[in-house]
Amino acid sequence: MNGIARWHKAPLALSAVLLASCATTTAPPRAQLDEARAIAARVPANLLTVLSTELQSKGPSGAIEVCQVKAPEMARNASAQTGWQIRRASLRNRNPKGVPDAWERATLEEFDAKQAAGADAATLERAEVVNDGGMQWVRYAKALPTQPLCVQCHGPVDQLGPGVQAKLAALYPDDRGTGYAPGQIRGGLFLKRPVQR
Ligand code: HEC
Repeated sequence: MNGIARWHKAPLALSAVLLASCATTTAPPRAQLDEARAIAARVPANLLTVLSTELQSKGPSGAIEVCQVKAPEMARNASAQTGWQIRRASLRNRNPKGVPDAWERATLEEFDAKQAAGADAATLERAEVVNDGGMQWVRYAKALPTQPLCVQCHGPVDQLGPGVQAKLAALYPDDRGTGYAPGQIRGGLFLKRPVQR
């Protein structure tokens, strides 16, 4: 009896292990997922506060510096404070540094597809453990939908203020970050950190 029971158990246990190792995605540890979510909620909200203030006091062409200097600076500060690598990227990037890597690109394409299928862009996220360079990383992404105020600098080129057009053309000769309407996904906020089990 015992022999039979053991015989039946072993292949079951083995197939469970095989299935787990064959799975294409692994969920990050809960604590790290919670942390990534909290940071991804805070960073864009802080940027939005600074951006709104600057737009009111200086107008869109004056506020371009906020996005050019402040946004990367805020991401760098948040990285230094939290230990996560934090950055923004877009399928149609303005800054050449905003080109997505393969995981980011696949994520942004998935976000667009989900939105087209009816999902609310503001809730879109992806979290995964990914092997890279012999290490395991937690990768987290949150969609950044275009809000009405964003189109002052990311809307159709012919609808941008003349000062904004001139400044963007001078700063970003290869700008692809225009032509967006409110609601469309402008890009993503991406976080990355070694897995801590
Ligand atoms: C005052 C003009 C301005 C406004 C308003 C603005 N942006 Fe930007 N945005 C920029 C500039 C300039 C850059 C390039 C920043 C850089 O050089 O790193 C940029 C870059 C980005 C990027 C990084 C990827 C890329 O294309 O280089 C994202 C994502 C982004 N903006 C999203 C938004 C969203 C979402 C809003 C509204 C909440 C917004 N922006 C509002 C000017 C603006």
